[in-house]
Amino acid sequence: MEYINNELCLGPLKKPLLPLVANYMRPIYVYDLDSVAQRYQAMSQALKGTRLFFAVKSNPNPGVLQKLKSLGAGADVVSLGEIKRALECGFSPQDIVYSGVGKTKFELAEALKLGIYQINVESLPELERIGVLARELNKKAQVALRLNPDVDINTHPYIATGLKDNKFGMERSMVPALVKCLKSYSDSIDLVGVSLHLGSQMLEFSGYDEALKRLKTVYLELQAQFPTLKKFDFGGGLGIFYDRVDLQLEESLLQKYAQITLENLSDLNCELQAEPGRWLVAHCGALITQVQYIKETSAKTFVIVDAGMNHLIRPSLYEATHRIEPLKRKDAAFVVDVVGPICESSDFFAKEISLTKVQEGDFVAIMDSGAYGYSMASVYNLQELPLEICI
Ligand SMILES: Cc1ncc(COP(=O)(O)O)c(C=O)c1O
Repeated sequence: MEYINNELCLGPLKKPLLPLVANYMRPIYVYDLDSVAQRYQAMSQALKGTRLFFAVKSNPNPGVLQKLKSLGAGADVVSLGEIKRALECGFSPQDIVYSGVGKTKFELAEALKLGIYQINVESLPELERIGVLARELNKKAQVALRLNPDVDINTHPYIATGLKDNKFGMERSMVPALVKCLKSYSDSIDLVGVSLHLGSQMLEFSGYDEALKRLKTVYLELQAQFPTLKKFDFGGGLGIFYDRVDLQLEESLLQKYAQITLENLSDLNCELQAEPGRWLVAHCGALITQVQYIKETSAKTFVIVDAGMNHLIRPSLYEATHRIEPLKRKDAAFVVDVVGPICESSDFFAKEISLTKVQEGDFVAIMDSGAYGYSMASVYNLQELPLEICI
């Protein structure tokens, strides 16, 4: 279904990938901007009235960011680098929500000077730091409190962020101390929001539902004391399928997620905010890589490609699965491990998969790598970073 005349295509308009490798030099991330638009529109419609702040960390490619900006998205950022990238791509400071547990004094001062729309605060010392800095700069910081509701969303432990032993957000028991701090900095801080983000790749919503209920209570308690409180940011985290193409089931999960969100939060009559990353861009991207060797051992057949874990770390870091498809499909197949050139045994993309019988020089695409792909890439082993192309 992703093939036309046995050639792999990407996105709703089925754009062929083979022409992209005509002058191949090194692995290429390709992003289909029509897919980005389609996903953005689907999510906006489902989450009626919610302001979507795209999680820049998932894919900071300028073409992707400009596309999302043109569709009306804001940007969710976690560093000054991401703020700068968002501004370069046309977002205004008023389009930006700034999260992250380790914001430095320098970063916060820059954010305050720029007039960033909302700073999502992750600890009491950070709140105090903002109060002091904003006073010095004669600014009024607009902050949301990121609360940690201590719920499990059944995802990989490395991408769970809403449990009490995670470093993210603040426990509800901190609220009295936060209120005291906010009152002592009432000249330099406005409390404008409550925020949460429970983690990523969420495909089941009971923990999320519980988290919304818990934080809604906190929101109402805080609102009684802070009339400036008018925003509820319910984070990102909606998951996708990596092991199969089932856009219909993904659509129904989106509807379920939206229903739970709106049922819980609509009556707050506040600005609802989301910070989606993966759901918007994962399917829009593929990593194209060239087969270098077919290596047979007594135990296995290895397809060795020129992309490595340094280009796409998700399989080695999170034991994530990505489908691997040849750019040109052939009839015969073999069972192989697809691995990269990096000097680590964790440098693999797939194990024991059935793959079209590729040969040296053929190309394969590692699918659904538009989120947390290039943005997590490194030059380990002094390999060059991959190229990026938007189509
Ligand atoms: C604060 C915050 N918001 C949003 C996101 C986006 O999550 P996802 O890509 O799963 O939608 C993340 C990702 O880790 C995050 O840390």
